[in-house]
Amino acid sequence: MDRYCVFGNPIGHSKSPLIHRLFAAQTGEQLSYEALLAPLDDFVGFARAFFAEGLGANVTVPFKEEAFRLADELSQRAARAGAVNTLKKLADGRLLGDNTDGAGLVRDLTVNAGLELAGKRILLLGAGGAVRGVLEPLLAEKPAELVIANRTVAKAEELARLFSDLGPVLASGFDWIDAPVDLIVNGTSASLAGELPPISPSLIQPGHTVCYDMMYAKEPTAFNRWAAEHGAARTLDGLGMLVEQAAEAFFVWRGVRPDSAPVLAELRRLLG
Ligand code: ATR
Repeated sequence: MDRYCVFGNPIGHSKSPLIHRLFAAQTGEQLSYEALLAPLDDFVGFARAFFAEGLGANVTVPFKEEAFRLADELSQRAARAGAVNTLKKLADGRLLGDNTDGAGLVRDLTVNAGLELAGKRILLLGAGGAVRGVLEPLLAEKPAELVIANRTVAKAEELARLFSDLGPVLASGFDWIDAPVDLIVNGTSASLAGELPPISPSLIQPGHTVCYDMMYAKEPTAFNRWAAEHGAARTLDGLGMLVEQAAEAFFVWRGVRPDSAPVLAELRRLLG
């Protein structure tokens, strides 16, 4: 059986095995997919041992940068992201590193949520790995403006500088901005702690602004509750992004694109 897995630490609550098993059943692809707890002090040795047999892997927290260094070859989007969430063993045994997170976010926004991003004002909260991973695909949609706001402004400035050749990207502190935007994407890890980036509610134009939390939790996140309280037209969570980045990884490995909609619906039913 062709072997695939996701590496992470912790990994117990990963939904990736379920998602990929649903994709495999839907497409008739014969493969196995398991969640593997990689040791914090030897990701590279663990991953190499898996790839003695395995054909592909997803990579999650905290190993995406190590996977980037492990890859023998990088896709353009992974090179830009500085992180790898998808590894594929090539015919000659070398490892290709790719990053499907940004494509997953953009597909969830444009296809699943039906949003047009061209010409829009987008505010991205955070400047860590999650945000860096989605900047290139977001800028490819040609927004009028993309502002990266972060608690540590220097990190936002560094990202804006790195991506400035791809479009109109600006850096900001949380409290420097208050004019309404079309879309706010929360890419900070604040939601993990039930916290909220301290941004002005006036960034939300009631009934118009869409708010998206890259995080997913059973209950609405602190950010999405805040957004709803202040009149956001819609609040979206990161489950669609999770399914879409997985579908894109499945395509990278197998050359077959699963239909993500029924899998997302099934996940919502199972998790709801
Ligand atoms: P990830 O890979 O999830 O992006 P990361 O690289 O550690 O993780 O980045 C975490 C991001 O969330 C950073 O932008 C961080 O802000 P700093 O750069 O100032 O550290 C942000 N973050 C974490 N906790 C936060 C909080 N409570 N409020 C606001 N921002 C927070």
